Amino acid sequence: MTTDGLALATRGLVKRYGTRPALAGLDLSVPSGVVYGFLGPNGAGKTTTMRLLTGLIHPDAGSIEVLGRPFGRTDRHRLFEVGALIESPSFYPYLSGRENLRALAATGARVAATRIEELLELVGLRERAKDKVQTYSLGMKQRLGIAAALLSDPRLLLLDEPANGLDPAGIVAMRETLRHLASAGKTVFVSSHVLGEVQQLADVIGIIASGRLVREGPIEHLLEGEGEVRVRVPAHDLDAARAALAALVSDGDPAPSGADDGWLTVRIETNRAAEVNRALVQAGIYASGLEAGSDLESLFLELTRGDGSGGHEGTFFGVAGGSR
Ligand SMILES: Nc1ncnc2c1ncn2[C@@H]1O[C@H](COP(=O)(O)OP(=O)(O)OP(=O)(O)O)[C@@H](O)[C@H]1O
Ligand SMILES: [Mg+2]
Repeated sequence: MTTDGLALATRGLVKRYGTRPALAGLDLSVPSGVVYGFLGPNGAGKTTTMRLLTGLIHPDAGSIEVLGRPFGRTDRHRLFEVGALIESPSFYPYLSGRENLRALAATGARVAATRIEELLELVGLRERAKDKVQTYSLGMKQRLGIAAALLSDPRLLLLDEPANGLDPAGIVAMRETLRHLASAGKTVFVSSHVLGEVQQLADVIGIIASGRLVREGPIEHLLEGEGEVRVRVPAHDLDAARAALAALVSDGDPAPSGADDGWLTVRIETNRAAEVNRALVQAGIYASGLEAGSDLESLFLELTRGDGSGGHEGTFFGVAGGSR
């Protein structure tokens, strides 16, 4: 496999729980020095991947490369190079936040005392550092988890849904922290089930669904180019609408399609939604609904439809009474 310049790579990674495959041949390529957004709906296999990458569980097939070297069954000791926050971090509830970081520091590579204070400051816990962790809120525990992951100043950081439980200010602060780490040359691999969150944070994204990678690449490549505009027209106008909109589609792209529910899909740049509407009006057709979304948004919406997590909230905009 070609994994030069990658901080993290998996090839053909398979993991089954019982007979059900959670990962069905996952190939990830995470370049060094980027924030990589690992995006997928609930149950897609994100946490399973994170657990494999940190040696908490072992793959049934496939291989992992961490920081340029194979990562196998006996390589857990290498984790001082990697900081990780997976699921809810576990701390001693009767110790304070500061004492927990000290206890963790004592078990790993040497950490300067001032580093602990810097990290408490960085994650906004300085004022509560001497309180017992059992008195912390969910978001405060998550912040402490991020501090713990950063303790050994790792070159690679693996964070599973770090925004969980954080308030909006906490999410902004976390985003700034992770961007800062990447600009200092670290690699940050961060999972999420919210497209909007990843869009604001990541340089590169990988989308996983049902244990497989469905899309991977630099975010600007995935966002640029064509998207979709969908219009809802009365059934008796469908053929005329299809004809009116066909002229807008570039050569080689599929013709307007998918009329069974009254919605026509046009493959076109999303900033041309108004043109779509004008073409309909000029043909004497009045749309009762119009929606536009990038290809990435459409894809993720499709993947998360029905998962109930609200994963596409705020990323896909319906205009004028769309009721899909
Ligand atoms: N310990 C386990 N035993 C059995 N099945 C499991 C176990 N852990 C995960 N699974 C299954 O593996 C699949 C992937 O789960 P995983 O936790 O990796 O998903 P995820 O992408 O992290 O989802 P979420 O967004 O909900 O955190 C799911 O079908 C899940 O039910
Ligand atoms: Mg998970």
